[in-house]
Amino acid sequence: MIMKINAINSIITLKSNLAANRRISLPAMQNDTFTKTTSFKGSKNDDSFQEFVKWAEKTDFLSNADNIIDKTGRILGSGFEGITIEIPNNDKWVIKVMKRSNLIQQGCEKATICEVPDKLPDLNIGQIIAYVTMPISNTLSRRFYIPRKQKGESYGINNTPPQKLNKKNIDTHISSLKKMAQFPLEAYKQMIRDIMQANDAGYIFDFYNPNNIMLDDENKRINFVDVDPACKESVNYQFSDILYALLDGDFGITFLNSNEDKDLIGQAKKYSDIIKEKFEKAIQDEIK
Ligand SMILES: Nc1ncnc2c1ncn2[C@@H]1O[C@H](COP(=O)(O)OP(=O)(O)OP(=O)(O)O)[C@@H](O)[C@H]1O
Ligand SMILES: [Mg+2]
Repeated sequence: MIMKINAINSIITLKSNLAANRRISLPAMQNDTFTKTTSFKGSKNDDSFQEFVKWAEKTDFLSNADNIIDKTGRILGSGFEGITIEIPNNDKWVIKVMKRSNLIQQGCEKATICEVPDKLPDLNIGQIIAYVTMPISNTLSRRFYIPRKQKGESYGINNTPPQKLNKKNIDTHISSLKKMAQFPLEAYKQMIRDIMQANDAGYIFDFYNPNNIMLDDENKRINFVDVDPACKESVNYQFSDILYALLDGDFGITFLNSNEDKDLIGQAKKYSDIIKEKFEKAIQDEIK
């Protein structure tokens, strides 16, 4: 089995190297994370930057934003870097507040929305389409981000901080693996296509944290969040990086090697094997 995965990984590395050679290199990010632009690419999903600006004006979002962040917005999830907050009565975008870097050493006269170029307007990978700067003083402002909202339930156990092998985490782990194992092969194939498309457009995924996957049961889609716009020329993903996330990262490995309940370990192993099998089949079908 390991040899088989290695063989697949060699194919993938080769393919992504080929893709990387074809790709035009993007400028490295400067002091500011994103570039302000007025380009319009359009989106068939109606969740483009332009739609966001229209919606924000109509609902007076900039006056309500602080209140949503501090009080009325439900927390959808939290990771190593940020907290993602639901915007009430809105299913197109969410708010992402960074835990450590909200303060910007740059004044602004009034709250402004800036565009982050969407390189894949027709594919929702939870990409950030805007950032908002709110004035604090002449020299300071506060910034938060607007990613496109992804559907689904957060997958697996968050890798940071390292999670304990307690009953709650083990139950979540096994029910996550079970759900993933039950997803049809087509969902895995779609996931591979999405990743390759995003990779070619220059987005970088973070497969370290399984919580960056969201399982959309209704549409049978394996969705991702937490993508970064590219700041380097190429990304050499190993497909084993994705498999690591699909098998619930560090928690998955730790649990299989633990002395916990043998029956539960047996279940985790059974679901993990199904996931591996579907994943490998999906790669073989998609990477020709
Ligand atoms: N676009 C989105 N749509 C819906 N939910 C989201 C979205 N982005 C993030 N979330 C939820 O919020 C959680 C934390 O967000 P995110 O992964 O962006 O934070 P992070 O701090 O960058 O995470 P990490 O620890 O992976 O670096 C996610 O695991 C997910 O459950
Ligand atoms: Mg994350």
